[in-house]
Amino acid sequence: MSLNIGKIKLRHGIFLAPMAGVTDASFRAICRRFGAEYTVSEMVCAKAMCYEQRNKRTDSSKSGSLATVSEDELPMAVQIFGSEPEYMAEAARLIEGCSYRGCVSTIPPSAIDINMGCPVKKITSNGEGSALMRDPVLCGRIVEAVKGAVSIPVTVKIRAGWDKNSINAVEVARTVCEAGADAIVVHARTKEQLYAPGIDLSVIAAVKDSVKGIPVIGNGDIYTADDALKMLSETACDGVMIGRGALGNPWLFSSIRAALEGETFEIPAVDERLEVAKELLSMMVKEKGERVGTAEAKKQIAWFIRDLNGAAASRSLVMNATGSAEIMRLLDTLISQNS
Ligand SMILES: Cc1cc2nc3c(=O)[nH]c(=O)nc-3n(C[C@H](O)[C@H](O)[C@H](O)COP(=O)(O)O)c2cc1C
Repeated sequence: MSLNIGKIKLRHGIFLAPMAGVTDASFRAICRRFGAEYTVSEMVCAKAMCYEQRNKRTDSSKSGSLATVSEDELPMAVQIFGSEPEYMAEAARLIEGCSYRGCVSTIPPSAIDINMGCPVKKITSNGEGSALMRDPVLCGRIVEAVKGAVSIPVTVKIRAGWDKNSINAVEVARTVCEAGADAIVVHARTKEQLYAPGIDLSVIAAVKDSVKGIPVIGNGDIYTADDALKMLSETACDGVMIGRGALGNPWLFSSIRAALEGETFEIPAVDERLEVAKELLSMMVKEKGERVGTAEAKKQIAWFIRDLNGAAASRSLVMNATGSAEIMRLLDTLISQNS
């Protein structure tokens, strides 16, 4: 199994899903190290990026930092959300040109990904994210506009549909494919389902069957290598995208790769896993500074320790820690108890 997104060639098609508040540069780097072949940024608001640019605001730019790309993490995509084709196109152009305010990237991402799946009310009430799926024509216009603005590939991430009475992933997928999309990710749930367990693999299979010439990537509820193999065999999709399964478990990517290559994979011992948690904490502090980096790393660390004996007590110590040094000491104690 291999797939191409434009000129980007992936050996197996194992993707890290975009997750706001999670898939920052540090987490993306860790997932890449453990087998994710392609990653996607947290979502960036296209309109906010354009406004910040036009108004030449001088305070720090949230969009700028979310859209930052470093050379050693390619291939990766920056994901944008919005509902107005012109803002989406302008934001994509700024990102490709590394010319947005607050930009520290020296190179563009490998692709622009368009969010058509976010179920959060704040987003859908503006007609953005999954609300776009209620208007397939607009979905096509957005893709056409973004394609016209950049030379890098443009990918689209959709859901099954808005609710169980309006499952229209096939219609939206065909429309965005005709508008020039270079790949489609299908999260096999409706907006109404949010993240409730239970995905409908037949939706991914139907999209794969109806869209020709570009890869279809399946997404939803992959927590083990077997889950990935099942999705691939039951839907014939070209690749798999993993979100929550990677939280505290970036080794999931390696285990999927091993399964696809017919090899066995041993998840590392607890102490090795905790060393990776320590590394992630250091990277996040370096990326965002002590205060923000530590605050944001706490939930990540909690995911790494959730299966240990006494996890609830350790989690509470992590959450109440006053700085990264204290969390490092806690992790060192857990490492010595588990080696
Ligand atoms: C905390 C969190 C944040 C997310 N943020 C985004 C986002 O910014 N853009 C997006 O397209 N999907 C986002 N998603 C959805 C995931 O990319 C993915 O489609 C969903 O979690 C299903 O995959 P999973 O079952 O492997 O987690 C988010 C999901 C979670 C749990």
